[in-house]
Amino acid sequence: MINIAVLISGRGSNLLSIIKSFKEQVKVVMSSSPKAFGLRYAEEYKIPFKVIESEGQIIDEINKYNIGLICMAGFMKKLTNDFTKKYKVLNIHPSLLPKYKGLNVHKQVLDNKEEYTGCTVHYATGELDSGEIIMQSQVKIDKGETIESLERKVLNEEHKLYPKAIRKVLNTIQPRYDYTTKEIIEAMDRINAR
Ligand code: GRF
Repeated sequence: MINIAVLISGRGSNLLSIIKSFKEQVKVVMSSSPKAFGLRYAEEYKIPFKVIESEGQIIDEINKYNIGLICMAGFMKKLTNDFTKKYKVLNIHPSLLPKYKGLNVHKQVLDNKEEYTGCTVHYATGELDSGEIIMQSQVKIDKGETIESLERKVLNEEHKLYPKAIRKVLNTIQPRYDYTTKEIIEAMDRINAR
């Protein structure tokens, strides 16, 4: 089982959706702010949490809880390239990347009269909202849509998308025990041929 850490800075609604889907695996929640509402979810679900101020402190927690996957969920601090190369770090962003990086995304989407928007889960790099895309979900923009209604709609999709994308990533890094007889015989042949 791969241990997960979640990094937050505020509301924590994506944290909650991750906790609900991966209860046993979320070992620590870290926040860049002591006031983050999301810390209450960690408390409620009895998950250890820590307010961190530096990447060094994040690394301490990763080592302490033997973390294999880090999920940024509304985490407002940038991580360095060294960090994101060393660890598997995911991020969720409320637009169809590579369009609309950064903040105030929904306003820009409406100003540009887009027909569709959505959300993206991607591997994090040292660059803002960049990195390989893992999964996206699209939503249609209705007539009379406001920033608030659009945010609600996209956030609702985020809560479904993030757990799906995490599952996809875990499937690529979790150890497998379901080898077929053919795979076992081929592996033994390879070893015997050495
Ligand atoms: C979400 O819209 C997420 O995509 C973005 O920040 C927001 C965080 O919301 N990166 P929450 O804290 O998960 O409720």
